[in-house]
Amino acid sequence: MAASVGPTVLLGARLPSSVMATLELAFNVVVADGPVSAEVIRRQAPNAQALMSMVTDTIDTSVLDAGGSLRIVANVGVGYNNVDVSAARARGISVTNTPDVLTDTTADFAWALTLALTRRISEGERLLRRGAWKGWAMDFLLGHDLRGRQMGIVGFGRIGQAVATRAESFGMVVVHAAGPSHPVGGDGAMPLDRLLATSDVVSLHVPLTADTRHLIDRRALARMKRTAYLVNTSRGPVVDEEALAWALRSRLLAGAALDVYEHEPAVYPDLMELENVLLAPHLGSGTVETRTAMAELAARNVAAVLSGQPPVTPVP
Ligand code: DGY
Repeated sequence: MAASVGPTVLLGARLPSSVMATLELAFNVVVADGPVSAEVIRRQAPNAQALMSMVTDTIDTSVLDAGGSLRIVANVGVGYNNVDVSAARARGISVTNTPDVLTDTTADFAWALTLALTRRISEGERLLRRGAWKGWAMDFLLGHDLRGRQMGIVGFGRIGQAVATRAESFGMVVVHAAGPSHPVGGDGAMPLDRLLATSDVVSLHVPLTADTRHLIDRRALARMKRTAYLVNTSRGPVVDEEALAWALRSRLLAGAALDVYEHEPAVYPDLMELENVLLAPHLGSGTVETRTAMAELAARNVAAVLSGQPPVTPVP
């Protein structure tokens, strides 16, 4: 396709075709041929004024320095721990993310994991596929009901609150705690330690920061009830995977469901061996509608900044 005369926008990956078409009307669009790096920028788009990064791209000072003409890094994701925001700001580069448009989809997925975990769906499917199912039995692969149980939500932002709504509609009692440095008040608020010690399901919804890295470590896991479940759809490094494998192996908690990992796409090998953990491949926002909405919002941010307007959804 003929390159537009407009400013160059480098994409970390191809976006849905409707968004590609909109971008190509106004900009010279270049799709990175691998994860965004300084080398990719220098080789493919040295004059890029906008970078639309994926959450798997590490946008550090080397990338920002290679993109000397950048005016915006529009991250296609609500989490932006992959972008060195202060380094970008120091260079006069706006950083934006895609809040709101993925809230319900991600909360739906956290809820899907909660149900699948407590009703042992993936465990049962693995068993059936390996030919080990002997038929219905009164005491076979029993899970646990959620009604009347306590859902502890760690990180009570948009997605955490949307999970709370789902939990309430299933008859759960919802409590919540913030990450270590952001105490949160209101009905159901409690300190993290108490939430961990009293909840039947703990669902993580904090951003990844220096404060939340390994928030769920051996000490936190040891506080949880032996009958409790842990669900992580936030960021992998919020959970110490080695500690989680230890806790699951030692039956210090009943089970865990993970959508995110410390070193994606690698998974801590011991977790792969355990039956009481459900492993999903980072699918939280993964619907056609939501990925399109995320790309559209990121593209609106690019259009705004490159036309001299304030970004629509700058990171806080
Ligand atoms: C996000 O938006 O941060 C998600 O992890 C992307 O799927």
